[in-house]
Order: sequence, then structure tokens, then C-alpha cells
Amino acid sequence: MLHVERMEKSVFQPWRSKLLFFTILQDIKFEIMPSIQACLFDLDGVIVDTAQFHYIAWREMAQDLGFDLTREENERLKGISRMESLEIVLSIGGVQLSEDEKLRRAAAKNARYLELCMQMTPEDALPGVRHFLDELKQNGIRSGLGSASKNARVILERIDMLHYFDTIVDGNRITKGKPDPQVFLMGAADLNADPAHCVVFEDALAGIQSAKAAGMLAVGIGEASVLTEADIVVPGFQNFGLLQLENI
Ligand code: BG6
Ligand code: MG
Repeated sequence: MLHVERMEKSVFQPWRSKLLFFTILQDIKFEIMPSIQACLFDLDGVIVDTAQFHYIAWREMAQDLGFDLTREENERLKGISRMESLEIVLSIGGVQLSEDEKLRRAAAKNARYLELCMQMTPEDALPGVRHFLDELKQNGIRSGLGSASKNARVILERIDMLHYFDTIVDGNRITKGKPDPQVFLMGAADLNADPAHCVVFEDALAGIQSAKAAGMLAVGIGEASVLTEADIVVPGFQNFGLLQLENI
């Protein structure tokens, strides 16, 4: 900007003054336009810690098939659909199953997972997340859910948080899982928001990759050593609000 102004003073050329005019116009537009139009949230590990229940249910299935599943191996399942997760778990144990048996095992894992989830109450929402969602609403910023889970609505109802979201994009709607950007692009479209003005909150590397492929700002919830492709990583929503977000 300063550079262009200096050029204007030294050499007058009509195209340069046009360039200066449009540069100023863009700056004004940027200041008037709210920088964040929508925030899109992953569910498991961001809104509520269901990741531990997924782990317990997959581990029990693995043990039933004769092998163990470590926490590190479980990290690979975060953000990944149920059937893809099953394939990964089976490959870890070197187990091959028929298609019918895979469906049966996936259904049994899901029943066990939901049984564990039924222990949850509204107090199980992760610390600070309700406060942050309230802050977004008060500031006219729309919120959407972008999750691979087919249980997203049930879980949100269970913790009494369904009403916070202006749209729900879940495993029942998407045809391409994370790291494909589909889930977040659908969320942005539902909320009539420009992807470049959307922020994604994610605890899984696949989800961060999905957000970046959608052209959005990606805030990692968890550890920077895992969420290497995030624009910023925070441990959670405690001590995190719009002020911190706008300063990224
Ligand atoms: C994601 C989880 O949110 O949902 C994954 O991070 C899980 O671990 C996926 O596999 C699918 O969940 P569900 O509830 O449809 O089995
Ligand atoms: Mg997650």
C-alpha cells in the first residue's frame, strides 16, 4: 500500500492511480465486512469427549478378535467414518472378515458405543464450549456442526446442545469423508457463508486437512505435535473466545 503510494508520487501513470483506488477500496471493504461469518465444529473431541467411548468400543471388538488396540493406533481413527475405521482396526490386527461379518461387527461396535454414550449428561460438554457458542450467537456469527458421525444428533440431544447449531452436516449427509473438504463446504453453503470467512474447530488431523482443503482457517483442539497442519492449536475452549480468535 505504502509502496504504491510512493510510486504514485514519483511517476504519474493512469493505470497506477486505478490500482491505488482499487487497493483502497479493497481495504475499506475488508474492514466493513465481518471477518468471521461462520464457525464449524467437529463433534467428537471438540464439543464432547466421545473419543474415549469410540476407543473403548473398538478396543473391545479388537480384543474379541484376539488382538489389542493402543491409544496411538486409535488416533488414526479420529475423524474417520465407522466403516473406514473398522477396516483400519482389522488391518492393525491382520484380521480378514466377510462383508456380512464386517457389517455385523460395525453394528455391534456402534451399539456398545451408544450404550457408553448414554452415561453422558449436559455436564459432559467440554469446558468452555457452551460459553464460546453463546459468544458467537451474541455476535451474530453462525455455527454449524461438521462431523463424520452418524450419531451426531443423538449425542447433541443427549448433552442438550442441538439448539446451538444453525446446521448439522453429519455422517448421514456426506458422501466423502474427511480429509475431503465436502463436510465443511456443505456447512458453509448451508450457512450462506464464504469458505474464506469460516473457521473450523477440529481435534483430528484428517479434519484439519479437510478444513484447509475447504480454504478455511483451521483451529486445532489438542496437541500441536499431532495437529501439525492447523493454523493454530489450543488445548480447548477454556480461556478461548472471539478476542483470541480474531487475533490469530
Ligand atoms: C467421528 C469420530 O466424529 O465419527 C470417529 O472422530 C468416528 O472416530 C466417526 O469413527 C463415525 O462415528 P459414528 O458415530 O458414525 O460411528
Ligand atoms: Mg473429532
